Amino acid sequence: MYNIAMAKYLIKTYGCQMNLHESEKLAGVLENAGFSATDKENEADVIVFNTCCIRESAEQKIYAHIGALKSIYKKNPNLIVAVCGCMAQEKGTSDIIQKKFPFVKIVFGTHNLTKFKEYLDKYNLSKKRVFEIWENEKDIDENCPKYRTSGYNAWVNISYGCNNFCTYCIVPYVRGRERSRDMNDIINEVKELVHNGYKYITLLGQNVNSYGNDIDDKNVTFANLLDKLSNLDGNFKIKFMTSHPKDLNDEVINVIAKKSKICKVIHLPCQSGSTKILKAMNRRYSREEYIALIDKIKTKIKDVVLTSDFIVGFPGETEEDFIQTCSLVEYCKYNSIFAFMYSKRKGTIAEKMDNQIDIATKRQRVNKLLAIQHQITKEINLNLKDSIHNVIIEKTLDNNQYLAKSDCGKTIIVNADSKLEENQFYDIKITKITNNKIFGKLIGD
Ligand code: 5AD
Ligand code: SF4
Repeated sequence: MYNIAMAKYLIKTYGCQMNLHESEKLAGVLENAGFSATDKENEADVIVFNTCCIRESAEQKIYAHIGALKSIYKKNPNLIVAVCGCMAQEKGTSDIIQKKFPFVKIVFGTHNLTKFKEYLDKYNLSKKRVFEIWENEKDIDENCPKYRTSGYNAWVNISYGCNNFCTYCIVPYVRGRERSRDMNDIINEVKELVHNGYKYITLLGQNVNSYGNDIDDKNVTFANLLDKLSNLDGNFKIKFMTSHPKDLNDEVINVIAKKSKICKVIHLPCQSGSTKILKAMNRRYSREEYIALIDKIKTKIKDVVLTSDFIVGFPGETEEDFIQTCSLVEYCKYNSIFAFMYSKRKGTIAEKMDNQIDIATKRQRVNKLLAIQHQITKEINLNLKDSIHNVIIEKTLDNNQYLAKSDCGKTIIVNADSKLEENQFYDIKITKITNNKIFGKLIGD
């Protein structure tokens, strides 16, 4: 048993921003219990794996990392290893962990994350392994402490779970149905974060655009939430993810266009450029509808930055379907994309579909798509010369140089004669673009 006054924890997080933020909640629970953080495995009393199961490759990596802890456990048999999150919630996984990794003492899912301290206490009292996976989602726990580690950005959940059941996706099975947080709870959290100096507020939901659909009040919508948050006092900006094209309506586009506090950055996963594949994926929009939406966004929101996700090698994807994805990517001119090879997930509809695509074809397609995007990103970056951006200063370098980030996450080296403050916004002009660096200078210097 560890001495709580000196006990140390290490959280290993896999997957999306949602998971990164949930690790801040796990850390909050542990900090409140008197633990402090370490980044050294051999110093830790408790090691938590907060896991992801979106693709098989993520799972294989996590299993390998858990397995690698065996030697640490041998040296320190008092070490408590816990596994939680999406992979733990997945049917059958908890049994595998139980059998394969005897040194894993606690396993819990996505619905009972905030109960971690209770499970630790239970294990410490009984010395019996604790396996607690709740089948269903419960009420949102508004009182979970958070120990934020994301610098000037603060993540704020607006909803949990997903109702969309895209046929490839495991998320609705491991995160349950969509639950929206109360609008006032979100606003109060954001007010406090801004008061505490956070400069970016990133709203999180599997589908932020359907925020409020599960709440009776018709005024509880994503557009109204964005409007209310952007009217709050303070020097901060708002980001959000992820948007679903079928739910991104005119009200949302208008409020993004109108409000200066909202970043003009939209992550709008498309997944495929073929209407046939989109239908099989249950995305509920066609190629033409998606393109029309992109056109509308570009017309209404000046200088908007668009990014997207694509899956190649979905069952039944022909060369012709893939070519449609390539041409859509060429048309949309995203700033960047994530491209994934389709990965079969247990319990999803696509798992049982005919015409699964072989790995060599998937690999070839993903590489081709990424090469197309690489060229587009390069062209977009070259065109940045002389454009003006409001950036945040991250770090002071030597010789009146600073490392800055744009709203869409591009790193810019800024020259300024005046002294710039870290974690503050400044207007800069892009002066030079080299192969892998972007330079700018402070405006009005
Ligand atoms: N295989 C490959 N990629 C997937 N994604 C979701 N499920 C799968 C899967 N089974 C991708 C989608 C989604 C992103 C978060 O992960 O592109 O937008
Ligand atoms: Fe998965 Fe589709 Fe829900 Fe996104 S919208 S989490 S891809 S089911």
